[in-house]
Amino acid sequence: MTQRSRRLRKSAAIRDLVRETHLTTNDLIQPFFVIEGSKREQAIEAMPGISRYSVDLLTKAVEKYAKAGGKACLLFGLPKKKDSAASGAHAKDGIVPKAIKAIKKTVPEMVVITDVCLCAYTDHGHCGIIQDKYVDNDQTLPLLSKMALSHAEAGADFVAPSDMMDFRVTRIRHDLDKNHLINTGIISYAVKYASSYYGPFREAADSTPSFGDRKSYQMDPANAREALKEARQDVEEGADMIMVKPALAYLDIVATLRQELTVPLLAYNVSGEYSMIKAGGLKKWINERDVVLESLLSMKRAGADIIISYFAQEVLEWL
Ligand code: PBG
Ligand code: ZN
Repeated sequence: MTQRSRRLRKSAAIRDLVRETHLTTNDLIQPFFVIEGSKREQAIEAMPGISRYSVDLLTKAVEKYAKAGGKACLLFGLPKKKDSAASGAHAKDGIVPKAIKAIKKTVPEMVVITDVCLCAYTDHGHCGIIQDKYVDNDQTLPLLSKMALSHAEAGADFVAPSDMMDFRVTRIRHDLDKNHLINTGIISYAVKYASSYYGPFREAADSTPSFGDRKSYQMDPANAREALKEARQDVEEGADMIMVKPALAYLDIVATLRQELTVPLLAYNVSGEYSMIKAGGLKKWINERDVVLESLLSMKRAGADIIISYFAQEVLEWL
């Protein structure tokens, strides 16, 4: 009868002393959606509070984010036009290179990470080149690499391939090095499940596949051992950090990978997780702020070093 656990819960000060896990302003990455044009802000219906911005307004939003303590952002581009070859994805004057340069000019210390994937740039919405209704792995690799290179040349600190093609980390690392971009890092979406939680994002990025689904390249939600295999392989291929996506329904995967890997681990609190909490908050069915903080804390407790979240801006203002 010596362990009266409630002694350590007696006051706020004691609880603060014995707290095991902390969510800090250093842990968060805010995603931003960038569009062509100027003075354009488009609210995303399925993600209340999140907008797409043209580059001029994006820099304003990033400045505001930096003022709140934001240190890193993740960029998603929406091109002027889409085609079957995803040609907008690697244009040197493309939307993402323009955004990177503008951010680096306005907020030089901001860590700029870019999503590398073809789905927002293909007319069919798949993450790679289609051959006979199938996403062809090896035809997609050079395009991903060119896309990564265009971001790195524009000044991105990290490129983050989210396509789930095999060997893309090897290919990107090789081509970055060959082009003397040895200090541009790779954050691999190594463990990305074929999840229904991406629904709101596909409205935001206009990237819903026009046929079929992503199950031939993204992972089966039933598989845990495969996560370890994917993560280890991407570390071997040269990834500097590894991501698990989505976060909340996959915290077991985060916990396992934390034990097995030495590289920094990210959890992506994806669009569907964001929108569900927002909806509950707007309806006043839950206390939004408390649920957000509890959710993000659970990701840290599971072992994530870094969290990508659409709540980052708001959370920074709360902390
Ligand atoms: C692109 C990509 C997706 C997300 C990040 N990068 C969508 C998808 O795979 O369909 C999802 C992000 C989110 O839901 O917040 N491949
Ligand atoms: Zn994609």
